[in-house]
Amino acid sequence: MKYTVPVIMCLLLLPSLSKGQDWVVPEERKGRLSTFPFTEETRKEGERLYNINCLSCHGTPGKNNSIALVPPPGDPATEKIQRNSDGEIFHKVTVGRGQMPSFRSVMSAEEIWKTVSYIRSFNRDYVQRVMQIITSSAYPGAQISLSMAYLEAERQVIVRAMATDEEKSVPVTNAGVRLFASRYFGALAVDEEKLTDKNGVAAFVIPAGLPGDTAGNVSISARFTDEEVFGSVTRDTVIQAGLKNRAGSLVAQRAMWNSVRKAPLWVILSYGIGVLAVWGFILLVMLKLRDIYTVGSALRGNLRPASDQEPTNKQEAI
Ligand code: HEC
Repeated sequence: MKYTVPVIMCLLLLPSLSKGQDWVVPEERKGRLSTFPFTEETRKEGERLYNINCLSCHGTPGKNNSIALVPPPGDPATEKIQRNSDGEIFHKVTVGRGQMPSFRSVMSAEEIWKTVSYIRSFNRDYVQRVMQIITSSAYPGAQISLSMAYLEAERQVIVRAMATDEEKSVPVTNAGVRLFASRYFGALAVDEEKLTDKNGVAAFVIPAGLPGDTAGNVSISARFTDEEVFGSVTRDTVIQAGLKNRAGSLVAQRAMWNSVRKAPLWVILSYGIGVLAVWGFILLVMLKLRDIYTVGSALRGNLRPASDQEPTNKQEAI
């Protein structure tokens, strides 16, 4: 008990610890570039996206009216944010940190780049470098393909992206690739997004606890993050990397979905009592109705003997 106050103090101070920490972006992500050039069109679309997703915290660029959070979000027009490389901004928006949300599953890569395009429009000195693939026209007309191999010992899936035309086959470099394991509903992302290296290769680590089917098989697929650029190439395969899943039937233990045999006694009893009570009540109402009817007809018999006979008398009189 006597530690409660110091513990609470520490918890309150925790967020401020990250205040001074630099947000370090992995080396290979820093140099990541947009796959399309920033134009007036991308800037406009970026402004729209910024207003929807970022304005509430970062404020209007150039107005220095970002909201007070710890650490502060900052105004995108300032040097503090502009000194980030394109790849750094892209990475920070993708993964988030602390109060800065991750936009990985909210915005597509293209939308994040358009937002970067808008942010860069506040920097006069900015000169864009576009990802090589577009400017070098290295692969136009080529068939882009993915191949996959599973290294069992390292628990790694190696994805290789190649661009092939009639003459030659060259590796697709610096392309974002993601790996998914199929689940009952939709797909589960396995590991982080990876960029292909100079050989067109990206390596993914399969987590040890990944559940598979009863034989431990997991069906996985790889695809490009920037599908607009590389096309919607996917590669599927089944690897034996999952845990053998021995989960029982979903309904085996559920009395409600099962035969009477498995239903617990209390369910049968309360259900039985409920049904009896309802039918008993209906029976009671019917008995009462019958009583009313008997009493009614007895009264009619007693009260109106004369009038009953009157017409007969009259008829006889006629
Ligand atoms: C909920 C509030 C919030 C929203 C919404 C938000 N941010 Fe942030 N952002 C923050 C905070 C807080 C930080 C500082 C995080 C840190 O340094 O740990 C931050 C940091 C950043 C940084 C890094 C700044 C630096 O100094 O390097 C960038 C870039 C950024 N945000 C861009 C965006 C973009 C683009 C969007 C919209 C797509 C966005 N943010 C939406 C709160 C937000």
